[in-house]
Amino acid sequence: MTPPILRKLADLRVKTAKWHKSGETIGVVPTMGALHDGHLSLVAAAKKTCDRVVTTIFVNPKQFNNPDDLKNYPRTEEDDARKLARFGIDAVYVPDPDQVYPERFSTTVSVAGLTDVMDGVFRPGHFDGVATVVTKLFLQTAATDAFFGEKDFQQLQVVRRLAKDLDIPITVHGCPTIREIDGLAMSSRNLLLSDRARVKAPLLFEEMEGIAEGVGQGEAFEPLQQAAIRRLENAGFNKIEYLEIRANDDLSLLDAPSRSSRLFASAFLAGVRLIDNIAI
Ligand code: PAF
Repeated sequence: MTPPILRKLADLRVKTAKWHKSGETIGVVPTMGALHDGHLSLVAAAKKTCDRVVTTIFVNPKQFNNPDDLKNYPRTEEDDARKLARFGIDAVYVPDPDQVYPERFSTTVSVAGLTDVMDGVFRPGHFDGVATVVTKLFLQTAATDAFFGEKDFQQLQVVRRLAKDLDIPITVHGCPTIREIDGLAMSSRNLLLSDRARVKAPLLFEEMEGIAEGVGQGEAFEPLQQAAIRRLENAGFNKIEYLEIRANDDLSLLDAPSRSSRLFASAFLAGVRLIDNIAI
């Protein structure tokens, strides 16, 4: 059954107030649409955990530091609603822009520290936009639980931090990255890859797996990193922003997986920015 699509906050609140009154838990899956199996795995996790589930679809202008990126971001609302139909969720919240950012909106939520590295450096302002919209969506949906993919691990840690710091009564669940059969991490941006680039894209994950295996066996990280960068560049990846090991908790840079850590990567392929991370 196609879930009701709500575009006004007042309509959403009528529903969530009723659910809260009857003591039901509410899971929110925030998205920007162009839904793929990665998003749908979050919806499935929310359905398993919560009495009620709301998926939000909002292409948040505040988190795009590049106007072309915002313009080109895939928008597939009808398709998204069809994909959500089989999950039996309770609502899809697709707010009109003024429901999120009304006239004279002037507040920014900014998380320090965790956002000083990786995407925080290469996409200035991005995490302020994410933190601001996620805070709004948490408060608008009054959700008890929220579901985010580990694919955007830095985002997940930023969201956990803001929920804790702002005493938002919500449990943030991190869910595993879902991959295509050839290893490419699912992402709405994959739709922007040309056929030729799509064939090359899984090399990023392959190289990351090779590094993770090497350092897992005690090899030094830097030579593995440099060799992987060379192979990626030879294959057509033209801007490797980072390929580094960082601690899970505070994202501090490590030269070896001395504590619970992940390998993080960001690279461009034919004009499309791909990010990925894997546990070491
Ligand atoms: O991961 C995303 O799709 C977005 O950053 C999010 C969390 C929906 C906020 O706009």
